[in-house]
Amino acid sequence: MSVLLTGATGFLGCRLLRELLARGEENITVLGRGTPDELRSRVEAAVQWLDSPALAPGTLASVRYVSSDLLQPDLGLDVQERARITKDLTTLWHCAALILLEGDPAPLHHANVIGTRRVLQLANEAPGARVLHVSTAYVAGQRSTGHIMEDDLRDTGGFQIPYEQSKHTAERMLRAWASSGHRDVTVFRPSLLVTDRPIPQGLPGQPTDLLLRIVEHVVNSRPDHAATLPAPVHTPRRTKETPAAALQYRLQGDPLGSLNMLQADYAAHAMVLAASRTTPAPGVRTMHVTHPKNVTFATVAAAVETRFPGLKVTMVPTLPHPTSLEKLAGAFAVNPLVYSTHRRTYDRTNLLAALGGLPDPQPVDLAYLTRAFGCAPAAVAE
Ligand SMILES: NC(=O)c1ccc[n+]([C@@H]2O[C@H](COP(=O)([O-])OP(=O)(O)OC[C@H]3O[C@@H](n4cnc5c(N)ncnc54)[C@H](OP(=O)(O)O)[C@@H]3O)[C@@H](O)[C@H]2O)c1
Repeated sequence: MSVLLTGATGFLGCRLLRELLARGEENITVLGRGTPDELRSRVEAAVQWLDSPALAPGTLASVRYVSSDLLQPDLGLDVQERARITKDLTTLWHCAALILLEGDPAPLHHANVIGTRRVLQLANEAPGARVLHVSTAYVAGQRSTGHIMEDDLRDTGGFQIPYEQSKHTAERMLRAWASSGHRDVTVFRPSLLVTDRPIPQGLPGQPTDLLLRIVEHVVNSRPDHAATLPAPVHTPRRTKETPAAALQYRLQGDPLGSLNMLQADYAAHAMVLAASRTTPAPGVRTMHVTHPKNVTFATVAAAVETRFPGLKVTMVPTLPHPTSLEKLAGAFAVNPLVYSTHRRTYDRTNLLAALGGLPDPQPVDLAYLTRAFGCAPAAVAE
């Protein structure tokens, strides 16, 4: 029995590896970029920093590291290595992906579609292995309202960004592969993953860092920002010195809009637990790895304000006469604000059936997001 994992150097993958090790999985091979020593060093740094769940001494040292790249034919693996990996392989976790919120679809298709096809070609050489594929709740694309079912893979509404489309195409490919080969596939669709643990430089950062960088850019674009706005704070606080509403900023979006955000530690735990509790069977089962409750954009904006004292963000349905600063965020090629009209919710039936009595995650609320946003590395011009 052996386990293969891609993407272990990433924000979610390092957590999956820790969960797998904590459950007592043995014979784990990690595929990733760089030399085996570089991979080991990056993965061990991330997994050790997580510090939970508890690992027995020496467990991490048992992991085998193999250089591999989704962009290379055959994943960059020679025949001998493929034979070694696929011998007795029981579980293949494919977590690696390129996550880019910007325009060019080609690199995304290459990594997330062709790369996944290469992973499935490897799985062809291990007919007894089940495949656990990490997708995203954002395969629902532009559908901003409604309740998205777990087995729903329609693309009628189109996609907001090519990343969503690449993950959607990969899911379609997995369905065809599972059905033609009578293979057992589980697709996990996490929502936006967050952590409130301060992440040291050099370890995998979280997606919301991007939102904060955009806000930093907007704040720093104000010519007199230094005179009116204190520098962002690492430890969120409001002080007597904080100027009230020094920078008013209107953000176009649905004032009742909401996002689904889930603690990354919970997501990894839930995925590994769900995988262990599902009975292998041919076909594809899909699980939304999502929080039971969305968080409103108003709450997200309030948490951003704590990071930038003096900033006042207001969500507005229309933005008449935008200031140059207000135009700025919308002009970003990389713009997480495209989601600001969302209200959709996610079905969790399959997930809950697999998790049994696992308690719901803690709320992702203002207090949580204030901690999460306060701990991202700040890079504001002085
Ligand atoms: N984070 C979220 O909020 C979120 C939400 C929903 C779904 N997901 C899904 O969860 C998975 C992991 O995301 P993440 O947040 O952990 O992303 P991440 O931190 O950016 O990690 C991505 C991982 O993929 C690897 N990778 C990228 N391109 C590769 C290539 N060409 N060859 C080999 N490995 C490659 C990276 O390796 P390097 O370290 O070498 O770059 C890294 O290990 C993805 O499938 C993503 O679509 C994430």
